[in-house]
Amino acid sequence: MATTAQLKLDDKEYVLPVMVGTEGEKAIDTRKLRAETGYIAYDQGYGNTGSCESAITYLDGDNGILRHRGYPIEQLAQNSNFGETAYLIIYGELPNAAQRKAFGDLLRQHAAIEPQMQAIFQGYPKDAPPMAMLSSIVASLAAHNPHLATNDFEKDLKNFDLAAAMAISKIRTIGAMIYRYQHGLPYIPPKDIPFCDNFLHMMFSEVYKDYVAAPEISKAINTLLLLHADHEQNCSTSTVRMVGSSAANLFTSLSAGICALSGPLHGGANTAVMHMLQSIHDEHDDGTRFIAAAKSGGKSNRLMGFGHPVYRNFDPRAKIIGKACEDVLNKLGINDPLLAIARNLEQAALKDDYFISRKLYPNVDFYSGIIMRALGIPVNMFTVIFAIGRSPGWIANWREVAANPKGRIYRPRQIYSGPVKRDYLPMAQRG
Ligand code: ACO
Repeated sequence: MATTAQLKLDDKEYVLPVMVGTEGEKAIDTRKLRAETGYIAYDQGYGNTGSCESAITYLDGDNGILRHRGYPIEQLAQNSNFGETAYLIIYGELPNAAQRKAFGDLLRQHAAIEPQMQAIFQGYPKDAPPMAMLSSIVASLAAHNPHLATNDFEKDLKNFDLAAAMAISKIRTIGAMIYRYQHGLPYIPPKDIPFCDNFLHMMFSEVYKDYVAAPEISKAINTLLLLHADHEQNCSTSTVRMVGSSAANLFTSLSAGICALSGPLHGGANTAVMHMLQSIHDEHDDGTRFIAAAKSGGKSNRLMGFGHPVYRNFDPRAKIIGKACEDVLNKLGINDPLLAIARNLEQAALKDDYFISRKLYPNVDFYSGIIMRALGIPVNMFTVIFAIGRSPGWIANWREVAANPKGRIYRPRQIYSGPVKRDYLPMAQRG
């Protein structure tokens, strides 16, 4: 394997170092390119740029492989749960019994939202977009816990265990509170029960009657959160790293990640999938018209839940979630016509040359919405659930940035394409 790369520019030759990851991923190190040649590497949207070295998640999009800290996602989905996988992603190893208990205790101790923070909710309209509420309330964790959010890497890392557990636990509680606020329901405080059961309790309990999740519902939400726990350098995770690279504290960086996740091409896709399936259902179409429109090109016509910036194969999470979706619907005795439409769309697209030639397969969002709908979670909360699930990955990535002694602030360059220098025009001379 090459250890260096040669670059010829204007008859001069330059030697660029080559880097190789533990799974054999190769990169040409262009860090000194501009200093040595005057050129920058151009890569719009960073699709072919390694912005960091990371030991958290390995993703091979061509072969549909996803591993956290070396463990295949299929094994984690089968044997682990969200809390344990969160620990693995953040700390690098599966916890032993004592570590798992200590982490679980921290999550439980910091699940509640203090009265002063509860008051923040009243400032929002009842129909405010949930992700806008989530990002701003998570940012306010920094205001309410300034000792954990000093914007000094060294100090913030000393308190990292507490801040991390608080972030995971409270993002979940804030998510449940957003749902209740929008439905005019009072805050239900957390109980001393497992993480996902507690989430369902805070979402669905009545004031005088606790909601106790059926085991299959608890398992479904666990699987859903676990499958979203990290996904390498996606838009929101890179945003967390970018914001964190300025030494911004964990909570502020997470808030930025939530904003990035809110867009329909990223975390909002699960919502868009449900709108798409519902409109196919309402129009009594079998999906043929949607597929034809998707093939005509244009971003607004895309088959939502299909395609992925890095997978050119089945998203391994989509396989697990497609199966989990069928299991939970069967166990709950729900016959959702949207599942049948989704299956038809999938079959039709997988046989269609347009999708085959572009290597467009279902992604994790294609079936996750149907599960959430079966659990009674409204569509406008779907991306919030995604954010709860993704919090361990964001936290682990923030920590890598904060703990890297050689780290530098993220600051890409650009190719300027605007007007060249010109002189200021007085108003009278403007057209
Ligand atoms: N439906 C129809 N055509 C599509 C779709 C789709 N869902 N996705 C991509 N294409 C087409 C593009 O139009 C393009 O066609 P062309 O070569 O004729 O111009 C080709 O496939 C390649 O598309 P890109 O835009 O290069 O794919 P990219 O990797 O940039 O986009 C993305 C990935 C944004 C996920 C895209 O596939 C998409 O919009 N999918 C629907 C939204 C969705 O499900 N997003 C969730 C993804 S998971 C996450 O969180 C990022």
